[in-house]
Amino acid sequence: MPKVALITGGARGIGLGIARMLAHSGWSLMLNGVRSQVDVAGVLKEFDNSDCEVAYCAADVGNSDDRAKLVEATKQQFGRLDALINNAGITSPGRKDILEADEDAFDKVIDVNLKGPFFLTKLAAPLIIESRKSADIRGSVIFVSSISAEFVSVNRGDYCLTKSALGMATKLWATRLAEFGIDVYEVRPGVIRSDMTSAVTEKYDELFANGLTLERRWGEVEDVGKAVKSLIDGEIPYATGQVLKIDGGMTIRSL
Ligand SMILES: NC(=O)c1ccc[n+]([C@@H]2O[C@H](COP(=O)([O-])OP(=O)(O)OC[C@H]3O[C@@H](n4cnc5c(N)ncnc54)[C@H](OP(=O)(O)O)[C@@H]3O)[C@@H](O)[C@H]2O)c1
Repeated sequence: MPKVALITGGARGIGLGIARMLAHSGWSLMLNGVRSQVDVAGVLKEFDNSDCEVAYCAADVGNSDDRAKLVEATKQQFGRLDALINNAGITSPGRKDILEADEDAFDKVIDVNLKGPFFLTKLAAPLIIESRKSADIRGSVIFVSSISAEFVSVNRGDYCLTKSALGMATKLWATRLAEFGIDVYEVRPGVIRSDMTSAVTEKYDELFANGLTLERRWGEVEDVGKAVKSLIDGEIPYATGQVLKIDGGMTIRSL
């Protein structure tokens, strides 16, 4: 029985890094994003030679009807779900100082980064629970948060708030889903090379060279992919509800 994972934001950046790792590990995948199927055709093609089945569903995780469409498409395509990877996210539109904070931008970030993963988990949970009856692995839910859960950026207050709140979402869902054999984790990346960080490449090249992290390099999408794969493949057992930081030691403080 192939294991099935749904990865939001799975056709680009960190989500695609996760998808590649899971494809190598025998997972079948439902990838999601806001772009159309036509626009991601090139990305999907790279999975043609893998043994796993890969499908795509365009849906805005910040929209209630789209979330329902995404879970239904997964059910129709695979008939089961073993892991939900809540990865899709946006940065703060306009990056305004919190003294100039914009309510529309705030609502948009909350919808995509927090309301989306929370309610997608609610919608997907029954399918993951049902699938446990014919599974040889535990089910899992991953919330991809960020170093911004603990580092302050006053020009991205809305983003920081959503990423911090995913920590509590992880504990809530870990508690609620434990009785069904479903583990829930927060994966907290540091600074990862992707489209989201492409505008600040030079800034971080210099910061890494000057010791921002203990490992003096950019995080790569594969680093996060390997972490997620290990968690949902059950390689880090007895750890539900925990935070796994993939940040090169950025959060270690020295005196
Ligand atoms: N890069 C970093 O340094 C970093 C660090 C910590 C945490 N993170 C978090 O990691 C996650 C992925 O980031 P990334 O760097 O890979 O970003 P990215 O390169 O900008 O990719 C974002 C992905 O999310 C999808 N997406 C955006 N809005 C969506 C929506 N409303 N509904 C469904 N999908 C949506 C995009 O879909 P399309 O492909 O269709 O555009 C894209 O696949 C985010 O949650 C981000 O906050 C990133």
